[in-house]
Amino acid sequence: MTRERDIQVHLSPELVPAGVLAGCLAVAIDVLRATTTIVHALAAGCAEVRPCADLDEARRLADSMRAGRVLLGGERGGKPLPDFDLGNSPGEYTAKNCKGTTLVLTTTNGARAIARADEAERVLIAAFVNFSAVCEQLRQDRRPLHIICAGQHGTPALEDTLLAGAFVDFICEEMETSLNDSARLAWDCFENHGRLLAGALEISRSGVHLCELGYAADLAAAAEVDKFNLVPELRRDPLRLEVGAVGIVKSRWQK
Ligand code: MLT
Repeated sequence: MTRERDIQVHLSPELVPAGVLAGCLAVAIDVLRATTTIVHALAAGCAEVRPCADLDEARRLADSMRAGRVLLGGERGGKPLPDFDLGNSPGEYTAKNCKGTTLVLTTTNGARAIARADEAERVLIAAFVNFSAVCEQLRQDRRPLHIICAGQHGTPALEDTLLAGAFVDFICEEMETSLNDSARLAWDCFENHGRLLAGALEISRSGVHLCELGYAADLAAAAEVDKFNLVPELRRDPLRLEVGAVGIVKSRWQK
């Protein structure tokens, strides 16, 4: 008898039942924009990213590290904060800004998804920009998988659901699976919208909001499938994200 791999999607961090992540592999997703920005920042040379859900905690942490090279980045309501070095636009995280720095990043929903994922044994950070590199890890690491979407203030977000569905689509091609209903919903969503990614991001609530704020370029950046071949991974004590696996064995994105 083939052993089915358990794949569960959670459409927002609040929907992850207590205790289910123990011993599992988790993937945290916030396409617009936290996880896209984290991949950009590490690719641009940040040594580590310290995710913080709380604004004052982020300020305190950055202040405590001012002796070294530290960047304070993030957003509230999608907008950059006046006393911060950078906002949450992937394009701001260039080699010039990032090389050798620790990035303290505070965002609204993305940081919450990462914090919730911390209960899992291994945590990866995913966006469309590192899609195939993450797929490779999901193929190699056969632990039960929980895909945690940041969503928006407790409700599902189209762009995160789409990426979760793209992972479900990939895994179901590779192995026998047992899916929860949210994984099936995400898969259906991907079947419906996935290949017209840019358009789907434009009609999403976060996409509309970011365009209203003048960040249309961030949607285009988030839709650049496989721009990078690295997978950020959560490390503990202190909680931080560093480059984990690097290398795309093969592109898993079917156009
Ligand atoms: C978040 O974490 O809520 C987002 O990344 C928001 C944004 O960047 O606009």
